[in-house]
Amino acid sequence: MDLAKTIKTRRSIRRWKKKHVPSKLIKKAIELAAHAPSSMNSQPWEFIVVRNKKSLERLIKPRENGSSEEMQPPVIIAVCVDIKRSPKRWIEDGSCATQNLLLALHAMGIGAVWLTAYKHPILIRKSKIERTTIRTLKLPGHVRPVCLIALGYPDEKPKKKAMRSLNRMVHHETFR
Ligand SMILES: Cc1cc2nc3c(=O)[nH]c(=O)nc-3n(C[C@H](O)[C@H](O)[C@H](O)COP(=O)(O)O)c2cc1C
Repeated sequence: MDLAKTIKTRRSIRRWKKKHVPSKLIKKAIELAAHAPSSMNSQPWEFIVVRNKKSLERLIKPRENGSSEEMQPPVIIAVCVDIKRSPKRWIEDGSCATQNLLLALHAMGIGAVWLTAYKHPILIRKSKIERTTIRTLKLPGHVRPVCLIALGYPDEKPKKKAMRSLNRMVHHETFR
């Protein structure tokens, strides 16, 4: 698949077949994720691949919007960042790698969705999602979860996405 097609056809997938996703594919997708840009070339990522059923259930459950309650992904990749390596730009670093990961998985025929794994870094109290993620994955204090990528072979075909008009998004020289 060429790059434009990969980007344009990627959609969030929230239903998956019960088919095994080979570790080789996951490793390849993570390798591509790790080629993302990062602040000061810190490459601060820690990817945790989860297949254990109990852990998957624990990670999926505490969502507030309820949208993930029925999700049963065969695999989750937790995208985490070592804040010792990237103390100021860890969210951007984690997000860049995540987008690579989503595109790489899609290009391999695997469907995925980005699930929030923390509330917001300026909140002193961690959210339930973040606490559960840290506990389930046994993350040390300097490793922060950015998101959980739930993935598997797609068992749904999302409808075409309505797009905002480019004319409204693009500005020349100044905003007005
Ligand atoms: C930062 C971020 C957080 C997201 N969190 C969730 C989430 O917690 N649960 C969920 O079902 N989808 C989540 N998504 C997926 C978005 O809902 C989805 O990307 C959006 O609706 C656009 O659809 P598309 O991915 O099919 O293009 C998240 C996406 C991003 C970029």
